[in-house]
Parts: sequence; C-alpha cells; structure tokens
Amino acid sequence: MLSRLLACTAITLTFSTPAWAEARDADAVDLAAARERAETTVKAMKQDEKTVITHGIMPLPGAGKAVEIPEDAIIGAGYIHGVPRLGIPALRETDASLGVSWVTGARKDYSTALPSAVGQASTWNDALIEQGGAMIGAEARAKGFNVLLAGGANLARDPRNGRTFEYFSEDPLLTGELAGSAIRGVQSNHIISTIKHFALNGQETGRKFVDVQITPAAAHESDLLAFQIGIEKGQPGSVMCAYNRVMGEQACNSDWLLNDVLKGEWDYPGFVMSDWGAVPSIDAAMNGLDQQSGEQVDPDVFFADKLAAKAKSDPAWAKRLDDMNARILTAIYATGLDKHPAEPGGKIDWDAHAAVTEEVARQGIVLLKNEGILPLAKTAKSIAVIGGYADGGVLSGAGSSQVMGEGGPAARLPVAGSGIWAGFISESYHRSSPMKAMQAIVPEASIKYRQGQYLTDAAELAARSEVAIVFATQWMTEGLDVPDLSLPRGQDALIAAVAAANPNTIVVLETGGPVKMPWLDKVKGVVEAWYPGTRGGEAIASVLFGDANPSGHLPLTFPADESQLPRQRIDGTDWVEPDFGGNPKDGKDDLPANFNIEGSDVGYRWFARTGKKPLFPFGYGLSYTSFAHGTPTLSSMTASVAVTNTGKRQGADVVQLYLVDRAGKAERRLVGYGRVDLAPGASQTVSMKIDPRLLADWKDGKWTIPAGTYTFAAASDAESLGKTVSVKMKARSWKD
Ligand code: BGC
Repeated sequence: MLSRLLACTAITLTFSTPAWAEARDADAVDLAAARERAETTVKAMKQDEKTVITHGIMPLPGAGKAVEIPEDAIIGAGYIHGVPRLGIPALRETDASLGVSWVTGARKDYSTALPSAVGQASTWNDALIEQGGAMIGAEARAKGFNVLLAGGANLARDPRNGRTFEYFSEDPLLTGELAGSAIRGVQSNHIISTIKHFALNGQETGRKFVDVQITPAAAHESDLLAFQIGIEKGQPGSVMCAYNRVMGEQACNSDWLLNDVLKGEWDYPGFVMSDWGAVPSIDAAMNGLDQQSGEQVDPDVFFADKLAAKAKSDPAWAKRLDDMNARILTAIYATGLDKHPAEPGGKIDWDAHAAVTEEVARQGIVLLKNEGILPLAKTAKSIAVIGGYADGGVLSGAGSSQVMGEGGPAARLPVAGSGIWAGFISESYHRSSPMKAMQAIVPEASIKYRQGQYLTDAAELAARSEVAIVFATQWMTEGLDVPDLSLPRGQDALIAAVAAANPNTIVVLETGGPVKMPWLDKVKGVVEAWYPGTRGGEAIASVLFGDANPSGHLPLTFPADESQLPRQRIDGTDWVEPDFGGNPKDGKDDLPANFNIEGSDVGYRWFARTGKKPLFPFGYGLSYTSFAHGTPTLSSMTASVAVTNTGKRQGADVVQLYLVDRAGKAERRLVGYGRVDLAPGASQTVSMKIDPRLLADWKDGKWTIPAGTYTFAAASDAESLGKTVSVKMKARSWKD
C-alpha cells in the first residue's frame, strides 16, 4: 500500500492568531480509543436506549409534520435526544459551511458569515480556511450547538448548479484539502463537523430524484477522491449522505457508497447522517445509514420503534444497530463533545471573528482584468457606484447555509416558494456596504450611487464621474439551478451602457460562480468578489484602492459560454418545476444525469480534453505585482518550485503544479499548490508532496499507474504552463 502523502502548502498568514484560537484545547483525535469507549457504552445500553441517538427532528416550527420540540433544543437544523443515564449528550445541530445559519430569522441572533466556499477556495490557503472553520465552529459552540453541518465537498461539476457557492472547487485535490482544513478548524472546538453531501450531489434540479450515471472509476477519480482526501485530513465525525440517486439508488440508501466505499474501502469510523428528507426506507440502515435526521420531513420515522422492532427479531439488524450506536458515539468521544459541553450564551469575540472573515474575503477576491486602472488612485475626485445594492451591502447565497449578521439583511427580496421554505430562498444582502467602505478610504471623494434600473440615468452619472464601478450580481440558492451563466436582470446591458459612457469602467462581480462577460473588452477592470461575507464591503474596497494586493485565484473555470460545458443544460431543467423540495411531481421521477460525459475530467480537465478555450482558466488570478516561477525539481515525489516577486510591491502568489504528460499521454491534473507572500525581490521555494492517487486511474478496485515518463509543469493557472520536470515511474497498483 502506498502511504498517504499530503499535498502540503507553504503558507504565510498575514495576521496573528487571535486569542480565542490560541485558547482552544488541541486534543489529538484518538479514534481507536474513542471506538473502544463507544463499544463499552453500547454494551451498557438497555434495549430501548439503542434507538435514541439514531434519529431526531428538525427543531424548526412549521417544518414538515408537527413535532414536539424539546425544551433544550435550539431552533436550527437538527436535534437528537441524548441518554443522560450514560452521559450521552443531546446533539444540537446547525448549518453550515459559511457560518451558523440564520434559519430565516426564526432564531433571534446573528452570526459571522464567511465568504462563500468558492470565495474561500480562491485563497488556496489551507491554514486560513482552517482558521475560518475554527471561527464558525467557535460561534456554533457559543450558541450551544455541538454539531455543525459544514464541510461541503462536492465537486463543482456544472457551474449552473445552484449550490456552486457552497462547494469549494472543481478539483478533487483543492476541494479535499480545503474541506479537510475547514473541518479540522470546526472540530477544534470539540464539536462534530459533517462532510457533505456524499456523493455526486451535482445539481439542484429534481434534487431528490435525479439519478447520477457515473462509472465507479470516474467517481473514484473525481468526486469520491475529494471526499476521501477531505475525510483523511479533517476526520469529520459524520458524513452527510446526499439527496440524489447514484446509479439508480438514493445516496442515503446506497450500499455501494456507504458500505462498500466509505466504510469498506476507506475504513471510515464515524457515522453517516441523512440529509433532511433523504431517507426512503428503513432498509437504509442495512445499507449503511446510521442516523435519520429531520425525521418529520421524511416519509416516515424509520430509525426509532421500527428499527427497534427489526433489531428485536433479527440478529443481523441487532448487530447493525449496535454498530450505528457505536459509530455515533465514536464521533462524540473523538471530538470530546461530551467532556466539553456546548451551552448557549457563550462569549463571542465579534471583532476577532470579523477580522478572520475579512481576511478570507480579501485573499479570495480575484482580479480578472486590469488595464492599468487598479488600484484606484486615492486622489480620485468623483466615483460613480452603480448597481448591486452596493450602497447597502453585499450579496449572499441562499438556502439552509444562509448566514446573517447583526440587524438582519440590509435588503431581502423573496424569490419563490411558499410557507417556511420561502424564507430559505430569498435574495439577501449582508450589512457591509462597499460604497461606504470606499468612502471611508477616500473621504474627500464624491461617491454617488445609482441602483441602475434606468440605463440612461446610470450612464449619465458614469459620464460625469472620473471612474465608474458597476457592482453586478448573480444570486444563487440551494434548491434551484441557474438556467444559464448570464448576469440576470439586464445587468449585461447596464455594464455596456456604463462602459460606453465612461472608458474608466470597472466591474465588481458578486456571483455564486462563473458568469459570461459579453462586455469584457469594453471595461478596464474586472474584480470577482464572490459572496464575500460579513465584511465583504471592506474587503472589496481595500482591493480596489490597493490597501490589499489581490491574491485570489479561480477555483473554477469560467467558460466563454455554456456551449463549452459537457451538457447544454442541467438535466431536467426543461421539465422539472423549480422547487426547493426537489421531490418528484405527479409520480414522474425518471431523471438520469449523465456524468459519464465528462467522467473524471471535471472543469479544467474537460477544457484540456476538448481543447476549448475558456474565458478565464482554473487557477487564474492577477496581482498588483508580478511573479516568476523557477524550474520545478522532484525528489521522492516532493516537488519544489522557487517563486520570486519580480514586481514593486508585496504580494502573494499561488504556484500550481500540474501533471501534463503521463506515459506519453497528455493530461492536466492539479497535483500540488502553494501560496507564498513575498516582499518585492524576495524568493521562496514552495514544496509540494504529490499524492500518488492524483497520478493514477481507478481500475478493478485499485489505483493503478502505468509505467513511463511523468511530466509536471509549474503554472500560474491551468492553461499558462511554465517550466517542467520529468520523472520515470514504474507501473504499480495499490488499494487504499
Ligand atoms: C441541505 C443540507 C442541510 C440540511 C439541514 C438540507 O436541505 O441539503 O445541506 O444541512 O438541509 O438544514
């Protein structure tokens, strides 16, 4: 067996560790000891105690069938009763990867929002993402939650997927490393994190019945590898299975995914919890599901009395039930959740948390185009700010992951749905105004705002200003995919009108993922700010005026248009009504999604395979300084690349290493990356350990690499390949 080689990154953080993070107790996770203790507890359980922690409710009034909400539950995503006699605590669960979720304002508190996961991934900074995880985990804990439904690790297979903003990237290495880092940070607070949604949760259209078609080989080399790396690094207490079907079976009822892959091949010791409303039947227990979540939104409560009855009459079910309990307890004991109880009313250092999210936002902002206009001169006298509610706030993504800061949204527009679920899909803006943050940097400048409904009016303001900045938004939500990659509500026309009126036009994008840019040639600057979180406005302003040097790099390919993607439209968008629930309608539930088109060639690999030229490639990002990469060297699967800041100001670079040729066949696979922060003229060598699975194919239940010469290129993005190094390798195959 080849040992696991972590792809390590050389990272320079630009701020010191806050006191709250230093104070955390860094207990090492001892899984073997946790499992032993768990088995002892299971032996002490009375029969009726064995179906207590195997199921729970969604403690949110109005969600699904009416249920009694226990007194010690906190309004949020989930509640699982404890067993006080055995010292087993109740599990109080909240969403999600971007912070403690807002649940439509049903709980009257607020939280710090990190940038969207895509925004986080654009930092390519594992250590910073771990700090982000630690920060949101600390808030969850202070609010009394001991399970954070974080760790979104699906690959962004199609940029029109409505949850693109909740996932890190299109690449298994980058996604796995960042998801693992975030989970590590969350769990450092003695709470459980999930990794989700296992697996192949690639679209929202028909989300509860879409049936993903993919070969085991392609799945292992792509989405499953991202999960595998994330689990190895983050050791999440729980895996949340997905809504979708995979090869005909619901993911939460998939013997292949849960028993064969997760618990078999990967030997995963924690527990599998269901997504909310994703359990089709009691058989899911035998197929590897350990805990039924949000049971009132499932067709039935399967994992309580019905499970107890099965266990009573059948030893195989009894054995499985013991294992379910042991797995849940292993996660509880391994994270120390029982010994360090989370109670509501904990102290939160809001300023320190704001500093973390602002740093993530700053490092994640990607400068896409700069024709000598940025950074803006602080002597600018008149600036037109147009669109995107930039006078009030920054956009956020919607659904269960929606986080809201103090005072609630600056603006909130209902979009679709009815009842409680309608609140989950409203377009909401954080109270962090880019315009106000800009004014704070240049108090003397006259900054005027137009929302941009009228092109004439926007163009007139632009014409009489030195610089025009259009804030363009693409809102995304869980539950709905976007039909295409255009900027909605006529914003392309707005940008074109403003650019025609003022040659010094800059576009700031707040988008969930890639968008088309028909106006690209007409504007001087483009900044991708994603959904930048609680302090997004400040982060955007600091990049625009050069107080921060942009260092974000795209974790997704920006296609020139949809025709370059593996499929013309997301499957089902021609007949499935957009609906947060995603349940079959009128009995029609036949929706295959053919992921075999691209197979494991997701994102930039698809572009490399088809020779298509994207608008902006994966890994791309400009800086206010410049960098040079030396020739890579290789020694026992560790690659090194010297990076030099060849420009005039301090800045951070992300050097990437791609496999470009394997035994005579052209390839494009990210095998390492490293972020370095350098003073002008300074150099640093980045070391990257290459995980052999990234070089391999999955064949007949094994990783296999062919004999031959392997060539690796240092690069600043997936298309701008630099100097190379080659090495001869012998054929080998191994199991994990
Ligand atoms: C989402 C999960 C979330 C759960 C609980 C589901 O709709 O898919 O990501 O954790 O709800 O809110």
